[in-house]
Amino acid sequence: MTGLLKRAREFHRAKDFVHGVSHLRRTREYARMLAHKEHADMRIVDLGAMLHQLHDGKLALQWLKDAGVGEKTAKRVVECVACCHPDAIHEAKSIEAKVVYDADKLQWLGFAGFFRELFCNMTARKQPFSIAWNNANKIEAESAARLQTRTGQKIGMRRHRRFRLFMETLHIH
Ligand SMILES: [Fe+2]
Repeated sequence: MTGLLKRAREFHRAKDFVHGVSHLRRTREYARMLAHKEHADMRIVDLGAMLHQLHDGKLALQWLKDAGVGEKTAKRVVECVACCHPDAIHEAKSIEAKVVYDADKLQWLGFAGFFRELFCNMTARKQPFSIAWNNANKIEAESAARLQTRTGQKIGMRRHRRFRLFMETLHIH
């Protein structure tokens, strides 16, 4: 577990500022909170949150094997990692995979999510301002619509509604 966390931290450290070590920390914190509320398996969820940014089931399995995690546990964690993407979440069967997905996507919602995505689009992805703005807006809306757990929806929709109200006040959509 310690070795795996160290490896995950190194992986995140090499990413852009939006997906750095603080993203790993926040995802684990949200995942633990959601796991508690949704009665999910805390160990699976924590390992899933730790490896979620790999977005690659095979790579996650290799990392888990390297860390000496048993096959049964590894299989459940791999589902969390492989499904942690808007295009793959429909394949998630377990509450653990849904919790990890929401823990990640809650960070794309509301004011913080929108501006985080906007800055990432403009800097790391080098998008022009208007495209970066539209893409951040789209991701915010899509993330709100695809939240998987009841707790995630409750928290996420509150953030989403406040943000939309602000945008409407400014006549920005
Ligand atoms: Fe992430």
